[in-house]
Amino acid sequence: MKIKGQHYRTIWVKENEPGVVQTIDQRLLPFKFEILDLRKPEDFEWAIADMIVRGAPLIGVTAAYGMYAATLSKQSRHDIQKVAESLKKTRPTAVDLFNSIERMTNAIKTASDPVKQSQIALSLANQMAEESVDGCRKIGEYGLEIIKQISKKKNGEPVNILTHCNAGWLACIDYGTATAPVYLAHEEGIKVHVWVDETRPRNQGSRLTAFELGEHGVPHTVIADNTGGHLMQHGMVDMVIVGTDRTTRTGDVANKIGTYLKALAAHDNNIPFYVALPSSTFDWSIRNGIEEIPIETRSPKEVKYMEGWNGTEIDDVLLMPYSSKTANYGFDVTPGRLITGLITEKGICKANEKSILELFPEQRT
Ligand code: MRU
Repeated sequence: MKIKGQHYRTIWVKENEPGVVQTIDQRLLPFKFEILDLRKPEDFEWAIADMIVRGAPLIGVTAAYGMYAATLSKQSRHDIQKVAESLKKTRPTAVDLFNSIERMTNAIKTASDPVKQSQIALSLANQMAEESVDGCRKIGEYGLEIIKQISKKKNGEPVNILTHCNAGWLACIDYGTATAPVYLAHEEGIKVHVWVDETRPRNQGSRLTAFELGEHGVPHTVIADNTGGHLMQHGMVDMVIVGTDRTTRTGDVANKIGTYLKALAAHDNNIPFYVALPSSTFDWSIRNGIEEIPIETRSPKEVKYMEGWNGTEIDDVLLMPYSSKTANYGFDVTPGRLITGLITEKGICKANEKSILELFPEQRT
């Protein structure tokens, strides 16, 4: 997608320097635009843990390049495995991280020498990036049909779509998951308008989703996190589309904290609630999201302080009595029963095991 009219992906191998991977520092957006070089495996661990990159699909691909970096700097299998274990500790909820490291580990094992090891690792990491772009584009095409139907019912009046956090191209490699149908609709001239939940505490909605929609000219309005229910009661939301960090084989979805409350409000108001995801975000090994999905807790500082632009630089301000305790749960689980449909690269299905396995029959046990 584009920033100031120039096409970017979120991560790429530097031209003429195959040992360097570049990414956009998302901690600074939308106030500053900086590209960072990642070289050593520790750079990739830091980039994921510190949320320079974030969003489940991008975390997965970054980890894949981290494994490639490991093959360049640490050539014994044992040392590469140690990097894999460290990468796995960076973010616990996004399952793309674990799926991607497993694919990389299995591929690296097939290499007969260190040179081949790196070649295989680079080629698979690049392939995963391409798969993500292709998958998001297909999610966009399937989701577009839903937007078209709503637009038709509204006689071309703008389709109001609410989204939470950033499941946009910045969370993936290109297009995004939740945003892909929106971008395709906008490109086709279908009128859309996006309600963007600010998404405290890190404000991925107001900082990242608003930024990327704005760069593409998609009409949008940022709202405080608790506004969605009110808008839904007043007919101001036609559909909700969110992303996910981990989806069980039964269709329970872990996404950014606050997603569950939007799903409840949508259910109460008969508003379609869709979750967009590539198949890399399924955790095929679990059935009960609430009991089995590990929920990340992050630094209390993210709740206690708000980060923003003070006119000169990015700064923190204290939001509460310094001595007050805070809790910072990163994700919550929305049960499949509250979800209208899962939009995947293979098509749209209901959020239940039977329907999911019809799209992914290879996952039948
Ligand atoms: O903590 P983050 O910013 O990594 O959380 C991101 C989300 O919750 C996204 O909605 C999710 O990863 C889906 S991204 C396509």
